[in-house]
Amino acid sequence: MGLLAGKKGLIFGVANEFSIAWAIAKKAHEEGALLGFTHLPGDKMERRVRKVAEPIGAKLITPCDVQSDGDVARVFALAGEALGPLDFVIHSIAFGPREDIQKPFLESSREGFKMAMDVSVYSLALVSRHAAPYMTKGGSIVTLTYFGGERVVPGYNLMGVCKAALDASVKYLAHDLGPKQIRVNAISAGPVKTLAASAVGDFDKLAGLYELSAPMDRNIEREEVGSAGLFLISDLSSGITGEIMHVDCGYNVMGSPGRAIEKVKSLFLAKVQATNPDLAAKLRDDDEIKRL
Ligand SMILES: NC(=O)c1ccc[n+]([C@@H]2O[C@H](COP(=O)([O-])OP(=O)(O)OC[C@H]3O[C@@H](n4cnc5c(N)ncnc54)[C@H](O)[C@@H]3O)[C@@H](O)[C@H]2O)c1
Repeated sequence: MGLLAGKKGLIFGVANEFSIAWAIAKKAHEEGALLGFTHLPGDKMERRVRKVAEPIGAKLITPCDVQSDGDVARVFALAGEALGPLDFVIHSIAFGPREDIQKPFLESSREGFKMAMDVSVYSLALVSRHAAPYMTKGGSIVTLTYFGGERVVPGYNLMGVCKAALDASVKYLAHDLGPKQIRVNAISAGPVKTLAASAVGDFDKLAGLYELSAPMDRNIEREEVGSAGLFLISDLSSGITGEIMHVDCGYNVMGSPGRAIEKVKSLFLAKVQATNPDLAAKLRDDDEIKRL
């Protein structure tokens, strides 16, 4: 019997098959859960979500803009009819105007800040508030965050400030909903190529840093976020709430570049070796390079 046999959940944030929400939904489906999905209003968005959600027998596919209180209320009423009491909700949503995200936080516009906070942070409180009455037997709410909310990650900018607020929201919501046995947790995922990630400047460079510095010498696979999501919505995590769980090959624990300098040095020397072996030999002998 699947880990989620008999469980029902609502998934916010599938834009296409590359979405992190989809990686979690797929695992949930494989483990026997019945699912409902929301998508941003619009034919194109609906088509993309139907393409992936219909083949797995989605019980509900409906538009939802989390900037609208009415939309969120309507979606939960529909989910109640289509699925009955809910066991879990995935909140995998973030948005900020690209021009605001791609400049230093110092330069963020007031409007960009308000919009990014509304969609990426307030929506978790709104969704949780509307979810609670439908989670009559308790349950699990999971959101997606990023390390750029804990430490400065150049390029993440305004979204980092949103993630810091989201991380704090997870803890307050865990406290508020704890008496109802509703758990609220976040997965802090390493870089995954998605539509939302394309708004972050230098995404490829950021992902490359994980291969250089993470304790596991690699970046994560999107399926690994799916598995962590499965754990957090299953009863295996029944004692866990208010947690920010890092799925990042350990990148967040590093306090120095670790093996990155050694790796960059040998990559550099390999390049020089290919075109100028004498220079490469000299550089290998060079005291300063050795010290590096
Ligand atoms: N991709 C990464 O590297 C990465 C890493 C850590 C955390 N995250 C977080 O994961 C979450 C999901 O992003 P993703 O990378 O899967 O990208 P994605 O583009 O696939 O998903 C983002 C989703 O947000 C939804 N959305 C945006 N505005 C909305 C609104 N007003 N109302 C309702 N939905 C709205 C979009 O429709 C989309 O489905 C985000 O919170 C993101 O910050 C992503």
